[in-house]
Amino acid sequence: MNQKQNNIVKMFDNIASKYDISNRVLSMGIDKSWRDEAVKQTYKLYDKKDINCIVDVACGTGDLMICWRKIAKKNSIKLYNIIGIDPSSKMLNVAKQKIKDGEFKEAFAQDLPLENRTIDIISIAYGIRNVTHRQEAFEEFYRVLKPNGILTILEFTKDEKKSWFSQIKAFYMSKVMPLIGQLVSGNKEAYQYLPDSIDEFVTSKQLQDELKTVGFEVLFAKEYSLNMNTTIIVRK
Ligand SMILES: C[S@@+](CC[C@H](N)C(=O)[O-])C[C@H]1O[C@@H](n2cnc3c(N)ncnc32)[C@H](O)[C@@H]1O
Repeated sequence: MNQKQNNIVKMFDNIASKYDISNRVLSMGIDKSWRDEAVKQTYKLYDKKDINCIVDVACGTGDLMICWRKIAKKNSIKLYNIIGIDPSSKMLNVAKQKIKDGEFKEAFAQDLPLENRTIDIISIAYGIRNVTHRQEAFEEFYRVLKPNGILTILEFTKDEKKSWFSQIKAFYMSKVMPLIGQLVSGNKEAYQYLPDSIDEFVTSKQLQDELKTVGFEVLFAKEYSLNMNTTIIVRK
């Protein structure tokens, strides 16, 4: 992989042991509700009671994998396999501690070790911003999904228009977050990367256009908590 991509992975390796606690503090626990809502919406749209395989790309420490299982159980959906994929071995180690019976693969979104047309649902939460070659990753997702398979993306996207709230949000993310992140994780650089990478990222609409170019149909797109989180669900 290119140097920029390898540096991003190294950064996640460095914060892996503190990732969960920093996440909870910085999002004040709201990220849990964003995940729950995205999973519920996806199950509703996929509308099947037997699901062979879900793949969570950029799975990190595994929270979304836990959520897929928990909500499947609550809704009497039989989920036979769930695979977590991430290029950071240290993030994967934390996930393996939390999900003892999980299946994991160390790989990049741009090069998935999966067969064509075998996966029911792919998810990627707060991961696509870290992928240096986004179109390659979208093409990989399209390749491995079954026909009518679903891709669910959660991400911090750039605001369409600058409002008074987006300025407060920008202040919180660029000034307050790196300080809190440094206090909790001991790594300021990683939490400076977060606002910088959002700033360099695209808007929700641009992301949807990129997905359509690859061949996906947009089923659902919504911003949550005053545009803090964007959830996009598309179908192959
Ligand atoms: C902000 S964390 C999100 C982790 C998890 N999905 C969550 O919601 O907590 C971003 C993750 O993306 C992973 N990542 C970075 N570059 C990637 C790539 N090219 N392909 C797949 N995952 C990548 C990192 O290793 C890290 O675990």
